Amino acid sequence: MNRIFADRPASIFSVMSALAAEHQAINLGQGFPDSPGPEDVRAQAAEAVLNGYNQYPPSPGLPELRQSVARHYARFQGLELDWPTQVLVTSGATEALASAILGLVSPGEEVVLLEPAYDAYVPQILAAGGVVRSVRLEPPHWTITKEALEAATTEKTRLVILNNPLNPAARVYGLDELQVLADWCVRHDLTALSDEVWEHVVFDGKPHVSLLSVPGMADRTVKIGSAGKIFSMTGWKVGFACGAAPLISAVAKAHQFITFTTPPNLQVAVAYGLDKTDAYFIEMREAFARSRDRMTEALAAEGYAVLPSEGTYFLNVDLAASGLNIDDEAFCMRAVKEAGVAAIPVSSFYAEDPVRSVVRLCFAKKDETIDAGVERLGKARRL
Ligand SMILES: Cc1ncc(COP(=O)(O)O)c(C=O)c1O
Repeated sequence: MNRIFADRPASIFSVMSALAAEHQAINLGQGFPDSPGPEDVRAQAAEAVLNGYNQYPPSPGLPELRQSVARHYARFQGLELDWPTQVLVTSGATEALASAILGLVSPGEEVVLLEPAYDAYVPQILAAGGVVRSVRLEPPHWTITKEALEAATTEKTRLVILNNPLNPAARVYGLDELQVLADWCVRHDLTALSDEVWEHVVFDGKPHVSLLSVPGMADRTVKIGSAGKIFSMTGWKVGFACGAAPLISAVAKAHQFITFTTPPNLQVAVAYGLDKTDAYFIEMREAFARSRDRMTEALAAEGYAVLPSEGTYFLNVDLAASGLNIDDEAFCMRAVKEAGVAAIPVSSFYAEDPVRSVVRLCFAKKDETIDAGVERLGKARRL
């Protein structure tokens, strides 16, 4: 048995979802929308299953999807990607991350992790034989500083993992902060793995800036995207890794032995969907922003201090600032068992020295679900 995986506790998302089912709780924990996703994109997938090609596609992905990814990122992020050498299709962002980490990190090399961090990163780094170096980001601004990055750097540092927009903090880092990270990468000759799965879920007109477009980063960034997040269909495990040809070639070498390829019918549908008009993406954002505002206002009325949410499906409440003297885990256990609402403790996103007063809630839900969930959070607050 491989202790790296066997010794890790069950993911907090599974634990909370199981408790939610056991206590008939409203689940504001796991991050998936309760809408079915765009019908035209689903129709393309159905058509491709029935009448399309269902045998192994090429390992790097269908050419039509790789071309569509390059067009999409030129349109939205000003990137110029040579699709045959700079775009790889993977089975979700999770597989892109695993392939990138296994393809780029050698045993003993160090990976700087900006925490709070998505739960797949640490086991994937350890499986590659890498060593995790945590940089602790803190509420309310979750600021990335040169000092913290420098303190985590050694001569063994190889890679940094950035997630922007940041789940769970709901921060969207702009060019200024990304440039701090970029200058540090250039200074120490580091590669960056930029998990940008939330790139389209950004609010209030704030643009998404890809790390790949930041001065100094074109040759040292692997940018990761996810169709599941772009089209609000989280079960669609189709992802992309984009960047300089030598980096993508290293990632593709790991990918060919992990999943080799990705279902061709979903690839066809994603290739179609990425060319959807700007209006689709604008409306999608506006709908999520409305849900965010609805939840924020309702939580404030219940006496919660809500941290700003600039992107993702999530917002956070600060327990201490809400006048609650309880840690995030204890609060979430109480909320799910006694008040019937599931949430995620943000401390579970830290490998080291966690922030313990912040709770993450998913607002990508129907209005009725948001209203009922917040009412129960009001009860949890009064318990
Ligand atoms: C930061 C981050 N990275 C990766 C993923 C996984 O993406 P996928 O479902 O495409 O594997 C998620 C899903 O929530 C995420 O939040």
